[in-house]
Amino acid sequence: MRDQADCPVTPKAALIARRRALLSTFDGPALVAAGRAPARNYPANPYGFRANSHFLYFAARPMEGAALLFHDGKCTLLAQPPDPEDALWHGPRPTFEALADALGVDDVKSVGDAAQIVGSLDDVATLPPQDEATARWVSGLLGRTVTAGGGASLEGVDAALADAVISLRLVHDEAAVAQMRFAAAVSVEAHRAGMRATRPGAGEQATYAAMVDVFRRHGCEDAYPPIVTVHGEVLHQHAHDGATADGDLLLADVGGESPEGWAADITRTWPVGGSYSGSQRAIYDVVLEAQRRAIAAATPGRRYRDVHETAKRALVEGLVELGILRGEVDGLIERGAAALFFPHGVGHIIGLDVHDMEDLGDRAGYAPGRERAEAFGDAFLRLDRDLAPGMAVTIEPGFYQVPGILADERLTAAVGDDLRRDALAAFADVRGIRIEDDVLITDGGNEVLTGALAKEASEVEAIVRSG
Ligand code: GLY
Ligand code: MN
Ligand code: MN
Repeated sequence: MRDQADCPVTPKAALIARRRALLSTFDGPALVAAGRAPARNYPANPYGFRANSHFLYFAARPMEGAALLFHDGKCTLLAQPPDPEDALWHGPRPTFEALADALGVDDVKSVGDAAQIVGSLDDVATLPPQDEATARWVSGLLGRTVTAGGGASLEGVDAALADAVISLRLVHDEAAVAQMRFAAAVSVEAHRAGMRATRPGAGEQATYAAMVDVFRRHGCEDAYPPIVTVHGEVLHQHAHDGATADGDLLLADVGGESPEGWAADITRTWPVGGSYSGSQRAIYDVVLEAQRRAIAAATPGRRYRDVHETAKRALVEGLVELGILRGEVDGLIERGAAALFFPHGVGHIIGLDVHDMEDLGDRAGYAPGRERAEAFGDAFLRLDRDLAPGMAVTIEPGFYQVPGILADERLTAAVGDDLRRDALAAFADVRGIRIEDDVLITDGGNEVLTGALAKEASEVEAIVRSG
């Protein structure tokens, strides 16, 4: 199926163990569908197919139009049967015997018979389809309407299935960690290539192309739309057609996903001309210190909200030292000073999805009984669970000068004159800095999966200059 020498393949035994683990905690029938490729303009010209992550967790292959049926202690793969026309246009499909052997499922049947098989069962649970085309198809198989993006309002058997899948996918097994290590290593290489390709006048596209090129050469897709921009203050800037000039900082939030779909998520912010200015370097070091302290806090048993608070505190302390904020740190944090410059959460769980299992709403990210805070900034925290060995999270504090925030009286009033706008003016060449790594929680603390990528300012400068 693949010939990429350096890409790990999840062993059949690991897939069997995952399916058994699900069956041992969820005994009702359940259909986990891979999905359908959406058409760009007509069906024979589709967008690249990316299977649903829950399906990939149990099957590790992006099989369009397939589904797994969990029932009566067994797992049946419902797959497209081999067809002579497919052999002409797309190459031959594997036989059902070959599929059963490769995946270690109990049985393989034609997906054409799925509606009839599923129709003979009561209360078949499923998980939210990723798009409308898949939702229509799954609704037809189940004989009831399921909606795309319905993860925030799951009920009954669907909610019970989601909870069983969440408890499995929250804690990564060895095969999952191997996939994430691969995605991390390729993404580290992509960032180095991006740093080397960046120069004044080359434009954001030169950096973007160099990074995506590394993914494609390793059989990886983008795990999410790459952010490659000199406007780091626009948090999800997906255009990369801007000019790059000496004095700009370039923020690259770029991660690849392994051929089996496992994600990496890395951000670095580097100087286009090869040297941070004094003001850029000062803020960069504040963000780096916040990231280091947050990573040190990400240990087993620690509540992730505390990790977020650790990053906020480090940022506010650093900004007080630079004279941008004035006053006592606890009071500044209480008055919302951190969110003025760091208006998002410190990170999220990561796995098969970059924001892992966000299709299930906050069910995955928030422990039962915990809810999002209301305060600006904290409200965007995507994770509030106690960390445990085997979980993987990102740690990604930042500093941004977002004009719409700094001009918003409702957000700045509580800080008032303790936001020293005259001092802040000396840092005008810092629009946005974020530093993001992927962290696996271990028995003894944690391991930074993306730790091979430089983040010390002088080391980053050296890579940019080496291009
Ligand atoms: N790349 C999206 C994020 O950092 O959450
Ligand atoms: Mn992230
Ligand atoms: Mn990111």
